Amino acid sequence: MIDLSTEYLGLKLVNPLVPSSSPLTGELDTAKKMEDAGASALVLPSLFEEVIEHEQKQLERFVHSQSLGSYEAQSYQPIPEDYGSELDNYLERIEQFKSALGIPVIASLNGISTSGWIDTGKELQQAGADALELNVYYIAADPGTSGEDVENRYLQLLADLREHITVPVTMKLSSQFSSVANMVAKLQQAGAQGVSLFNRFYQPDIDLETLHIKPALELSSSVESLLRIRWIAMIRGRVDLSIAATGGFHQTEDIVKALLAGADVTHLCSVLLQKGPDHIAVLKQELEEWLEQHEYESVAQMKGSVSQSCAINPAALEHSNYMHVIKSYGQ
Ligand SMILES: Cc1cc2nc3c(=O)[nH]c(=O)nc-3n(C[C@H](O)[C@H](O)[C@H](O)COP(=O)(O)O)c2cc1C
Repeated sequence: MIDLSTEYLGLKLVNPLVPSSSPLTGELDTAKKMEDAGASALVLPSLFEEVIEHEQKQLERFVHSQSLGSYEAQSYQPIPEDYGSELDNYLERIEQFKSALGIPVIASLNGISTSGWIDTGKELQQAGADALELNVYYIAADPGTSGEDVENRYLQLLADLREHITVPVTMKLSSQFSSVANMVAKLQQAGAQGVSLFNRFYQPDIDLETLHIKPALELSSSVESLLRIRWIAMIRGRVDLSIAATGGFHQTEDIVKALLAGADVTHLCSVLLQKGPDHIAVLKQELEEWLEQHEYESVAQMKGSVSQSCAINPAALEHSNYMHVIKSYGQ
């Protein structure tokens, strides 16, 4: 019997297959299907800072109009019916998922400023979230913002939250840091129990007819997993926190490579949007078969065995391999 269990953010998971934040993880029926198919935990869709801020502004406007006490202002500014609805719905969803599912439920916050997140973090914890994933989706468009400024945002946000909540916190990072390994080490020092590598930035497109910038959401493909696998292999063994691989994990082979590189779990999104929540059962079955065929008894045994600290040819992960790769073209 192959043991697929793994540990992630201090949680004991029955296998490394974790649906990541997406519309699929926000519906209880679909979440139940994914659990039945073998998902070992799930990350809820993010609660967005912009939405909470918008609701707060609505309330402030309402309170202001009430304090003016004028009939006109009150009738013009009705009580916002949906005040607090996003946060309240989110908290309700955590409670509902926790009572209906047996797997850990990880809440997700998406924002860039610390204001407000501490209270929200506490509420998510109280509602029963087993861990928090922070997705600091920040595009440093201002030339006056330095790399250090950007890093400090992440570190400050994490440190503030860590002071007030006890559930594990993991940071979902983009690959766009000058030194990914150093950033992960700094996050660990600031109290992160894990990192999810890497967030995908969706690139807006230009509509050539209207000349408008239009949003574009493309699902990933397997080739994107290689960037994640490379970085995970380079940091596993050098930092001491949980690592989730996210972005481009479609085939069982991609998942196997992430585990060999040193991931504790692989997050799944595009593949489940394309193939449906039941596809987790296929991936789980194939993962088991792969381990059996390659004479591994457990995920724990294979995890990190091709990380840089264990690899047969560690230099192949670094720059020294660049020259060989480009010379191999066409051979
Ligand atoms: C439709 C859609 C919605 C998503 N929503 C969120 C979200 O709310 N929060 C988040 O952190 N990531 C979100 N993601 C990103 C995914 O969780 C995942 O990290 C990314 O798609 C890369 O994984 P994949 O290659 O398996 O799709 C979303 C992705 C998609 C396609």
